[in-house]
Amino acid sequence: MVQNEQELMALLYQRWLVLRKPLGMPQDTETDRYEEQSVHLIAVIPEGVKSSPAQGVEKIIGSARLRELSPGIGGISYIAVLPEFQNQGVGSALIQSLIALAKKQQFHQLKLRSRLSAAGFYEHFGFISQGAPIDYLGIPHILMSLTHQLQGYQCVTASPNTPYEIIMNFRNRYEQTLPGY
Ligand SMILES: CC(C)(COP(=O)(O)OP(=O)(O)OC[C@H]1O[C@@H](n2cnc3c(N)ncnc32)[C@H](O)[C@@H]1OP(=O)(O)O)[C@@H](O)C(=O)NCCC(=O)NCCS
Repeated sequence: MVQNEQELMALLYQRWLVLRKPLGMPQDTETDRYEEQSVHLIAVIPEGVKSSPAQGVEKIIGSARLRELSPGIGGISYIAVLPEFQNQGVGSALIQSLIALAKKQQFHQLKLRSRLSAAGFYEHFGFISQGAPIDYLGIPHILMSLTHQLQGYQCVTASPNTPYEIIMNFRNRYEQTLPGY
């Protein structure tokens, strides 16, 4: 659960591992000036289960961020799942949870900038590409948005009372469903 500075640091390290290190970029390139005003979600392996790094420590396997871009419009960014946990539904749970948060905050539109290689992932959830691919960090990206589907979306709920949140039923879900437990 991201609820203090230490856990935020762990989240940023996990984000860097997935999104920046493979591009040869140093640490501290994974943040921007919007961290404080954003809601951060994480998927964790709770302490004491297989693959957990040490007793008393939760391993962050996935993370994502939501912030208000302008009134009624939310921005999703930095969705990152550790490679060994990809294609197991973690990213789906994260984005569904972000959509639930967006509904709760009464956003009528969600926007994101996807790597072209990940656009198919977002399309699964109704996001639509806009315009031509653009270069960002030396790799092609595409702007995407979710509008009409946002209001009708049914998914897990979350409770963002602080800037840094975890979705509790997300954790429970993965205790039950991730392989190797
Ligand atoms: C993209 C990413 C977030 C997806 O998370 P994930 O946990 O691997 O995805 P899921 O297992 O929930 O997959 C959900 C569905 O999307 C599909 N999918 C996953 N990644 C995909 C991709 N890159 N392109 C197209 N479809 C993809 C899955 O096959 C699955 O489809 P299915 O339900 O028909 O089987 C994750 O792979 C990741 O972190 N990749 C590296 C970093 C990255 O590219 N982040 C996005 C930056 S914009």
